[in-house]
Amino acid sequence: MASKPLSREQAAQRLETLRRELHLHAHRYHVLDDPLITDAEYDQLFRELVDLESAFPDLVTPDSPSHRVGGAVLDAFQQVRHKKPLLSLDNIFNEEELQDFATRIRKALPDKPAFMAEPKLDGLAVELVYEQGVFTSGSTRGDGLVGEDITAQLKTVAGIPLKLHGPAAALPELQVRGEVFLRRKGFAELNRKRLAAGEQPFANCRNAAAGSLRQLDPAVTASRPLSFFVYGAGNPEAMQVDSQSRLLQALGECGFPVNPLITLCKSEDEVVAQYRKLQELRPGLDYDIDGMVVKVDTLSQQEILGATSHAPRWAVAWKFPPSQARTSVEAVEFQVGRTGVITPVATLTPISIDGVVVRKATLHNQDWMERLDIRLGDTVLVQRAGDVIPEVVKVILENREDSAEALHFPEACPVCGQALQRRADEVAVRCVNPDCGGQLVRRLIHFAGKSGLDIVGLGKKQVAALVNAGLVADAPDFFQLEASALAALDGWGEKSAAKVLAAIEQRREVELSRFLMALGIRHVGEVTAELLAAHFSSLESLQAATLDELLALDGIGEEVASSVQEFFHRPATQSLLERFTAAGLRIRPVQQAKTQARADALQGRVFLFTGTLSSLSRDAAKQAVKAAGAQVASSISKRVTDLVAGAKPGSKLVEAERLGLTILDEAAFLKLMQEVQHGK
Ligand code: IVH
Repeated sequence: MASKPLSREQAAQRLETLRRELHLHAHRYHVLDDPLITDAEYDQLFRELVDLESAFPDLVTPDSPSHRVGGAVLDAFQQVRHKKPLLSLDNIFNEEELQDFATRIRKALPDKPAFMAEPKLDGLAVELVYEQGVFTSGSTRGDGLVGEDITAQLKTVAGIPLKLHGPAAALPELQVRGEVFLRRKGFAELNRKRLAAGEQPFANCRNAAAGSLRQLDPAVTASRPLSFFVYGAGNPEAMQVDSQSRLLQALGECGFPVNPLITLCKSEDEVVAQYRKLQELRPGLDYDIDGMVVKVDTLSQQEILGATSHAPRWAVAWKFPPSQARTSVEAVEFQVGRTGVITPVATLTPISIDGVVVRKATLHNQDWMERLDIRLGDTVLVQRAGDVIPEVVKVILENREDSAEALHFPEACPVCGQALQRRADEVAVRCVNPDCGGQLVRRLIHFAGKSGLDIVGLGKKQVAALVNAGLVADAPDFFQLEASALAALDGWGEKSAAKVLAAIEQRREVELSRFLMALGIRHVGEVTAELLAAHFSSLESLQAATLDELLALDGIGEEVASSVQEFFHRPATQSLLERFTAAGLRIRPVQQAKTQARADALQGRVFLFTGTLSSLSRDAAKQAVKAAGAQVASSISKRVTDLVAGAKPGSKLVEAERLGLTILDEAAFLKLMQEVQHGK
């Protein structure tokens, strides 16, 4: 259709009409499931919009439907601090625990509560911020306090409105929360495409959804058929409603997709009935759910009940029991882990459990395997629960064939052949050969992977390829890779070689704590690595630390201290660290916590810490309160006045609640420290 070029004003007008129409039709299609026009007609309007916008780029608005196809490619995700923390939920598993939850709530409330029962969607929690009705910023949950800015990616999710209808359009700010997920059909389709392209398929819908959202190139996200359901708001008061049920209704009216299975229950019995109903509906749904969320409906009652540092007291997630299925054992292999632990893994006749195809299941260890008395060809019961690796839980003996071949745990390492060892006090059987090739590959995968240096583009497959090609024999070699050698690898090419080299370059200077994690020292996880880094500040002083100095740190016990000592005293570690230096790896100097607090600001208070703090190490936090005149305790007692509870707090939190201590979550703690330091 050839038409006269439009003037700027005409274009602006036409663009506005197009935006309005496209929003309307997208809403009819994705949210109401009741389209008014055909897909072809929609595409035509859309193309007109894109063409006009490219002729008048300055007329592109943030709410334009054209953002649905993805925008500029990002270098990295920015961090966003949530206005209010995105809490998680406590889990319950049976009717008795539901009764306990209900009884606890009734005791605290003057009036009888009603409950909202909502399917627990198995995707990724996100927060969407709308200003004057326009979607301006979206983020992942992250650790609950700080998430990643994925605004451009979220704009490509069809169900997420870019602009709100009705009264919500006038609100200065609305923080909407919900779940991004992938429907089973979209998931199957995506995996088919990946397999056809020679890529690794995603293990389940949830991983596929997370992998699709956390894409630096929003166009990739746009190519994935992601869906969205809303389940709450950070500032529900803005919507002028008095209950969760009315909040969801109102959010539905302003354009958000609301799950059709949400149900208001007047009693615990109705909650139980709804749970059973959802369990029955579950296999037939076209998306994954892993339980039912039960929420006190009335907002004022929610307020009375409040929250602990990690979860609201007015809601629980009632999880479905782990799903199990029967299949047969085709083979058992023995994998060597990075610390030499040997894990028996069964290869199964593929079986679908909750929509996920399971091909392998762990047999955990020698004892587990022998207790099962598993044999080749056996029919077994396999269990899958959430994200954890599927496991073989039982052998169905009635189905065993006489010919079933017995299996034996090996005496020699399947990779290097050296005799395996088992300490009397451990279940683990280990290969203790420090030069074992199997351990080396695993160590390198850990080093480059998420819990190590997190070098983008160096996953399992790539690391194994580098080792096989003889380009990497140990971790320092990553820092001396050359573009030409990489590009010559099968299936790599210059582009991917350059990408990986750039990612490695980004990690040439690392924080001490991250480096310690990457080294894979036994018993040194994230918390310990941060503690060591904060206390010793440099690798040299950590290396020189005596056993007593290590033991003097709060949070470090015998086992960890001797593992750290043993690691740094190994001759192989010395030469490894020298090779890192020679390869040009640098450790970023540790920033010391600023502790210019008034020395008596917290006098008389005794702090206890539990859980992980995201913005500073526990050691730094302790130093800060001590500098303000407080004492620090290592266990709960009447002496303690304040409990600081980070993420994943332990039993100390429950105990502190019982004792009625002041409980500070990370945000409250930071605020307190700020006040103290500014002398308020
Ligand atoms: S409410 C303060 N409602 O479950 C309440 N969460 O373990 C927090 N989830 O990270 C969330 N469906 O991603 C809520 N209908 C629902 C949900 C839901 C799934 C997820 C959410 C959250 C996790 C909590």
